[in-house]
Parts: sequence; structure tokens; C-alpha cells
Amino acid sequence: MNGNFLDFESTTRDDVLKILNRASIFKDKIESNENIPRKFNSTIMASLFYEPSTRTQYSFDIAAHKLGIKTINPNMQRLSHLKGESLLDTIIAFHEMGVNLLTIRHSENFMPHFIANEINIPVINAGDGTNHHPSQALIDLFTILQYKPQIKSLSICIVGDIVHSRVARSLIEILTIMGVQDIRLVSPANLSTNTGTSNIKTYENLNEGLQGCDVIAALRIQTERFTNGEQLNKNHYFNNYGLQADSVKNAKNDAILIHPGPINRGIEIDSSTADGPQSKIKDQIRNGVPVRMALIEHLLHSNT
Ligand code: CP
Repeated sequence: MNGNFLDFESTTRDDVLKILNRASIFKDKIESNENIPRKFNSTIMASLFYEPSTRTQYSFDIAAHKLGIKTINPNMQRLSHLKGESLLDTIIAFHEMGVNLLTIRHSENFMPHFIANEINIPVINAGDGTNHHPSQALIDLFTILQYKPQIKSLSICIVGDIVHSRVARSLIEILTIMGVQDIRLVSPANLSTNTGTSNIKTYENLNEGLQGCDVIAALRIQTERFTNGEQLNKNHYFNNYGLQADSVKNAKNDAILIHPGPINRGIEIDSSTADGPQSKIKDQIRNGVPVRMALIEHLLHSNT
């Protein structure tokens, strides 16, 4: 992972399992209220989120606190980039003040990669444009494994706005690292992307794609990334791609449903499905903390 966590390009199956095994230990400790040594109390983490976030930013923050790390979450409307400073100069300023771990979310693809190249502290990609959201993929995999440990033999159906989704891209990468042979991508043609890999099939028909699958991974529709006059007809989308009882019944009876959040209820999913017994969305949110603890620990250890 080269000291940073930007994507899965240099991540092995062993790296993934090591982080998730450690996350399991943290999860047990959190649930049983056990003491967790605050062993990184000389670390200061800055979280620079140039796009909105609830789960990622604050679960990294809570994870860091549990490890003894001090955190800075600047109000992005009060930083000196509004006076013309470049993003790199802002980050160099934080580094000179003693920040020694950085999480960054940015609307431009590869911005975290650029920063990681320029600065000598571990950088975590908390989501770059339509490109990668690797810590979300770790959480998604961890959640799937909780319910479906035979990962290689699962049929996993990713539904929604694939083309704009960094969550989908990172999830496909981590599932491929784990050897999943049946990954299905369901979306309307204008939101689809063709990966050209043999373990991935694309579908335009939701019921067909969901047929007999073990895991339904729903995506948020990302209208903020629509370009060139792309429009969303919400009713049409919900009627054809919205996850609801009628469509979900095509999956296996014991299929689980995940969604990274935030959810657009009534567009990509209805409330009774999002809050129903097959939904593991709350597990995903809860798992964000131990998974990100394990990731931070892994990075700090590999940088010492
Ligand atoms: N899943 C996810 O990235 O959620 P946030 O935008 O709330 O961080």
C-alpha cells in the first residue's frame, strides 16, 4: 500500500484480510466496551473534505479518537484557499504545523494521489471524484463477510448510477482482489460502464440482474456529477431501478442489501426496503469506525 491508502492498485488479498481481521478485533472491543490503548497520542490527523460528508469524515474522526489521535476538521469555508492559496500550500501549512496524517476528499479524480506524491505523510483517499473510495469498499466487504463469509462463491449485484460512482469502482476492485467470480452491474444505459473483465456482467434490466443474487449493493444517484445536460427523471428511475419489495424478491430469500449512504429514499430505494430485515445499511455505518481504526493503525505502523 506504499504508506498511503489511495486505491487498491498495490493492495493484496493479504493486506485486505489483515486490516479486516484487525477491524474485527476493534469491533468486538467497541461492542464490549473494552479499553483500547490510545497508542497514537503523538499523531495529529487533519481531515480536509472539499465535498460534503457525514459518515466518512466523522467515522474517521471517531476512529482516530479511539486510537488516541488528535484530529482537526477545518471548516472549509474558513480556510485560506478562499484567499487564493493553492490546495498544496494549504496542506504544506498543516504539515509544517505538525499534522502527520491526512484524510482528503475532493471532487477531482486523483487529487489525493497528487497530494501523496508531494508530501511525506500518509494520505488516505476519502473519495476522489468518480474515481475511488477505498475505505468505503473495505467497510462494504467487512459487512458482507459478517453475513456471507464464502465470498468467492457469492453473486453480488451492484445497482444504480455506476458511471459516476467511486463506491462502485472501489467495490468492484476489492471484490476482484477477493476472487469474486459473479459481479453484476445493473443500470440504465446512460449510467453504465463496461469494465471488460470476465467476472463482471452488465444488465439494463433490474429483475434480470438481481436474479438469484446473494448481495444487493445499491448506489446513490449522483446528480451533482451529471454533465452535458444529463437529466434524471426520478419517477422513471424509481419505477425501473428503485429497490423495493417487488424487485428485491428476485434475489435469494436470504440476500442482504447494502448501501454506502447517504440514501435518496424514493429514488434508488424505498423506505420499507432500506429499513427492512435484509438491509445491513446500519451495520455498514457502525462498521465504519472499527474498519477505519484498523486502516489508520495499519498505515501508521507501516510508516514507522
Ligand atoms: N458513504 C459515504 O461516503 O458517505 P458520506 O458522504 O456521508 O461520507
